[in-house]
Amino acid sequence: MKYLPLGDTGLYVSQLTLGAMTFDREDGMFGQLVGGTGQELATRMVDLSIDAGVNLFDTANIYGMGESERMLGKALGSRRGDVLIATKFNNPMGGGPNAGGSSRLSAIRECENSLERLGTEWIDLYQVHSFDDTTPLEETLRALDTLVQQGKVRYIGLSNYAGWQIAKADGISRRMGLERFCSVQAYYSLVGRELEREIIPAALDLGLGILVWSPLASGFLSGKYTREASGEGRRAKIQVPPVDEARGYDIVDVALEIAGRHDASVAQVALAWLLHKPGITSVIVGARKEEQLLDNLAAADVALSPEDMARLDEVSKLKREYPEWTPRSIQRGQDLASRLADMG
Ligand SMILES: NC(=O)c1ccc[n+]([C@@H]2O[C@H](COP(=O)([O-])OP(=O)(O)OC[C@H]3O[C@@H](n4cnc5c(N)ncnc54)[C@H](OP(=O)(O)O)[C@@H]3O)[C@@H](O)[C@H]2O)c1
Repeated sequence: MKYLPLGDTGLYVSQLTLGAMTFDREDGMFGQLVGGTGQELATRMVDLSIDAGVNLFDTANIYGMGESERMLGKALGSRRGDVLIATKFNNPMGGGPNAGGSSRLSAIRECENSLERLGTEWIDLYQVHSFDDTTPLEETLRALDTLVQQGKVRYIGLSNYAGWQIAKADGISRRMGLERFCSVQAYYSLVGRELEREIIPAALDLGLGILVWSPLASGFLSGKYTREASGEGRRAKIQVPPVDEARGYDIVDVALEIAGRHDASVAQVALAWLLHKPGITSVIVGARKEEQLLDNLAAADVALSPEDMARLDEVSKLKREYPEWTPRSIQRGQDLASRLADMG
């Protein structure tokens, strides 16, 4: 397992993170949607991940409506200080107008509730789960800065922000001398590369680490879904993230062929492709079963060649959108005809 600094910080995280979204009771709300592991399997998954060198565990207050944090805290037990916990807030944890969001009230209350459920005195990475356009960013950032000053939180991150929202937040923190977000948690997979347009450039320019969620597009890229067979699993219940299946199966075909040459699984190739991408700090793997986790953890050892990467890049490439096809910079003295030809 390799370890990389999280953005501009001095904190090193493993290239694979264990996602705890499946940690819930089987009959819980998340359990029914994404497959509740129960405590015993959750503990086993944490053990296997630590054995493989994983040092970062990602959860959220909303996963299992708190059950995921409870199970993760229990599973870590006395090893809590040896690893890093990332959690999130913003989704509503009950009824009423203030049950969610990124207000000062919500940020502080949810942090305290997460600390209690996790059974810890600090959260290593506290993330805003998604952008709240009803709360001024200044208010959220001041509240998060307070939590860092109080020692309840070590680092702060964001998730699911647009490129301009990331840049605006970073500008506010710098101008006001507040704690800066150090990481972006975003959806990225071979069948979902939209973040390459605005989010990755923003993160790289500002020195933020990138944590990838749903790297297998909720199992679509696990190899069990083919044109012929739809496989079993969560994708049948919730189509999130959305996948253009016709195009997706062309990508799976290439991944399958590359997997064959590496004696690897399709899931491992899909994860390894992300691990080879510049700017990616850590890929958050999810699993509902022990064998899925073992399969995914082994992706850290799959070395794709430049030719493998080029083939996967080509079959999964994004359509060029405005303003990407306009000339990057004006060459002084260039006439209009040659500029238009450049745009061709
Ligand atoms: N920030 C956010 O908004 C956000 C959103 C989503 C997730 N996340 C984070 O990202 C983590 C991972 O997300 P994810 O669970 O959606 O990841 P994913 O890797 O895209 O999907 C994981 C699911 O795919 C199936 N699967 C995984 N490995 C497999 C394998 N080797 N063979 C066959 N099937 C396999 C399992 O579901 P089935 O068995 O049901 O098919 C598993 O639960 C979460 O735990 C969470 O920490 C964050």
